[in-house]
Amino acid sequence: MIGTPFRREVFFCKKKRCVDRMGLNMKTYRIGILTGGGDCAGINPAVKWAVKSALDSRLSAERDTHYQVLGIRNGWEGLMNLDPSSSSDPHYVIPLTEELVRTWDRHGGTNLGTSRSNPYNPKNDVSKTVIQNIERLGLDALIAIGGDDTLGVALRLSGEGVPVVGIPKTIDKDLPGTEYTLGFETAMNVVVECVDRLRTTAGSHRRVFVVETMGRHAGWLALEGGESSGAYIILIPEFDFDMTRVNELLQEGRNSGARYEIVIVAEGAKPSGGGEFVRDNLVDSFGHQTLGGVGEYVASAIHTGTGFETRSIILSHLQRGGVPCAYDRRMGRYFGIAAVDLLVGRDFGKMVAFRDGRVTAIPFQQALAGPHLVNLVTEYDTSRYNGRRTMLQRET
Ligand code: F6P
Repeated sequence: MIGTPFRREVFFCKKKRCVDRMGLNMKTYRIGILTGGGDCAGINPAVKWAVKSALDSRLSAERDTHYQVLGIRNGWEGLMNLDPSSSSDPHYVIPLTEELVRTWDRHGGTNLGTSRSNPYNPKNDVSKTVIQNIERLGLDALIAIGGDDTLGVALRLSGEGVPVVGIPKTIDKDLPGTEYTLGFETAMNVVVECVDRLRTTAGSHRRVFVVETMGRHAGWLALEGGESSGAYIILIPEFDFDMTRVNELLQEGRNSGARYEIVIVAEGAKPSGGGEFVRDNLVDSFGHQTLGGVGEYVASAIHTGTGFETRSIILSHLQRGGVPCAYDRRMGRYFGIAAVDLLVGRDFGKMVAFRDGRVTAIPFQQALAGPHLVNLVTEYDTSRYNGRRTMLQRET
């Protein structure tokens, strides 16, 4: 449960007090918020509601604590590159007020900016600088919004005594321990909208359309985006596909009267006996390569194997763009508020999570014991390359 008793005292134990507008003598507590990794819809709502919940004057009185919130720009990069001669480098630090974040729940991406910078990069470990800068800014605690990379850094900092909590966001939905990560539902809506558009042109021309989605090594976006849009075939990283079988299914579809087919393929999917498709040999500071290109491979193999006219499209960053859907606004709100609840309860080293229909929190270790992948027994039909057509069995 959120707000469990204080676990471990850390090095930021300052006895700061201030007099608030009503003349009450209160403790002051300064929070930093940063957003790291790939952007997506749902981050800004989480920031807005963390700020509103921290600064809420009624809650401040109840908590006997006056909170201040600083936004750290560009993820961990902000804390790595902060000007050491200044206690508030405007290039990397921005005070967050209720007025400033008022409309952020309607904004896509992240208004704080992001990066894939890694303070623990084995080639250049600057984690000590990050810790010094956290102290220099007078931060009593940190909220890190990110996926496995960003939260992996948070876990390590937490191990060094930094009071930090996390909020999960990634369109890959691959963090274990939480049934939701911000950005996923908006990205799925993009998949559905694009497939709806492709259907009309695919039908007019009697073509097969291969749609490549993101998701890295997890098939959630492809599978649930494919289920939501009614795709005929869905290829996911968790199960290596056989092109002969793909073509057989497509032929079956045509034989039973279909004019066109939609095939969704996750960027991390692989043909049996083959490897992942990568754009180049470059790796980021967390050691990841950029995936992409499997859609084109599948399209060409379909054309060769069946003779059907086939086109492919990569949805790429369109899936991360645009304003958050209703669900991401709401979940962003709940997650932002829950992160502040954790800080108020001094329940550090945890990530907010969604489990069994409830917002809760789990230790970072649990959230990072991943990745959380599609279950091939309960969630995927390995013979028809699609979602399962039994549902209640999933519960057993
Ligand atoms: O992790 C989110 C994600 O969108 C993945 O699905 C994708 O493989 C990757 O990020 C793309 O990263 P970048 O924005 O650095 O190209």
